[in-house]
Amino acid sequence: MNVYDSARMADVLRPLGYGPVDRAEDADMIILNTCHIRERAAEKVFSELGRLRLIREARQAEGRDTLLAVAGCVAQAEGEEILARAPYVDLILGPQTYHRLPEMVARVARAGRTIIDTDFPVETKFDFLPEDAAPQTEGNLTAFLTIQEGCDKFCSFCVVPYTRGAETSRPVPSIMTEASRLVESGVREITLLGQNVNAFHGLDGEKTVTLAGLAERLGTIPGLQRIRYTTSHPRDMDQSLIDAHRDNPLLMPFLHLPVQSGSDRILKAMNRNHTADEYRDIIRDLRKVRPDIALSSDFIVGHPGESDDDFEATLQLIRDVTFASAYSFKYSPRPGTPAAGQAFQVDEDVKDKRLAVLQALLREQQDAFNASLLGTTQDILVTGTGRKTGQLNGRSPYLQPVHFEGDPALIGKIVKVQITKQFTNSLGGIQSKETAAF
Ligand code: 5AD
Ligand code: SF4
Repeated sequence: MNVYDSARMADVLRPLGYGPVDRAEDADMIILNTCHIRERAAEKVFSELGRLRLIREARQAEGRDTLLAVAGCVAQAEGEEILARAPYVDLILGPQTYHRLPEMVARVARAGRTIIDTDFPVETKFDFLPEDAAPQTEGNLTAFLTIQEGCDKFCSFCVVPYTRGAETSRPVPSIMTEASRLVESGVREITLLGQNVNAFHGLDGEKTVTLAGLAERLGTIPGLQRIRYTTSHPRDMDQSLIDAHRDNPLLMPFLHLPVQSGSDRILKAMNRNHTADEYRDIIRDLRKVRPDIALSSDFIVGHPGESDDDFEATLQLIRDVTFASAYSFKYSPRPGTPAAGQAFQVDEDVKDKRLAVLQALLREQQDAFNASLLGTTQDILVTGTGRKTGQLNGRSPYLQPVHFEGDPALIGKIVKVQITKQFTNSLGGIQSKETAAF
């Protein structure tokens, strides 16, 4: 979502004459868009600010001004701290106020001091962002689109409800307009974004539309070929969405569904509001309607109170479900969250050991999943040319990068590729004669 937000900030600044540059040294304005989810990400902001300060001083010596802004969730949560530790920052703005950037830029020139805007405004930024957003990723063929933001679930460990604010869904017509523009400009695959994307309940006039309903409407846009959504919560995986994986041909058979832990005791401590078996049941139901679906997840090791048995239960869940890929993290205490103040914090070296064991198992499963595709024919969205001459790059339904030899005229098309090679993080193949590209 930060990638999406950064692109939208560029959109609102374009009418003021700003455009992207490759090096901070060449920038008249630098916006650090920040993440507060774990301590390491948040700490990086301060070291990066120190580096940017030097760049600004060097530019100053050459008579060039540089506006320095900190945006995103660290700005939201630690605005005062930034002001104290880096008073040279010009602008501090949260994730819900970046549509006000042009006005803030004008104000900072007059004020001569740091401007802070970390409101949760009544108006929504989406009403103020330009609708002709430029596509964001991979040769303009794939794009992100935020449809929902914020969270009311208050998992014990998580800062998101405090930094992104309460859960809200964008109205359907505004999403349809943005999606249509993206497709008109060449996008073939859209990833719908939200912190709780499957809790989506956007209004279309008087009617409330669910994520399954939205995906169905998006399917009416000619030229759109693939839809993904991330990130989902198991609690909101309702039957209509499960059925959509059977009924909507645009929905990719790959789902990121974070479970965090496989221990009921820890799931309860995390305030996740479901059990490990309920998660297993959802996966079983998804596989029933879509046997080729592959799963991805997030895991946290070392949440306060996690015992060896709890950790073993997580490993067991992983063995039972099997994942095609996953993200895993050591628990990082976040100020102001309930878990941070709990007794029974797990030692750092225990977290390290558990993470290594967990990641080895997940790596094994990812390799096994990739190996299971050898010899199969997959639909590959061709996104560009590869590093070697004659080579094309593309994306499988499971988001794996795939390389194969082919005609550059295929860029932007979905072609059948037989998978013949497996690398650590990508696959190789040969274009299948089976069907023409579409
Ligand atoms: N410590 C470690 N990981 C966390 N996540 C969220 N908060 C924390 C934390 N305090 C992880 C969760 C979530 C992902 C986006 O980040 O696994 O799903
Ligand atoms: Fe954070 Fe996700 Fe839990 Fe919301 S549902 S509090 S975003 S981990």
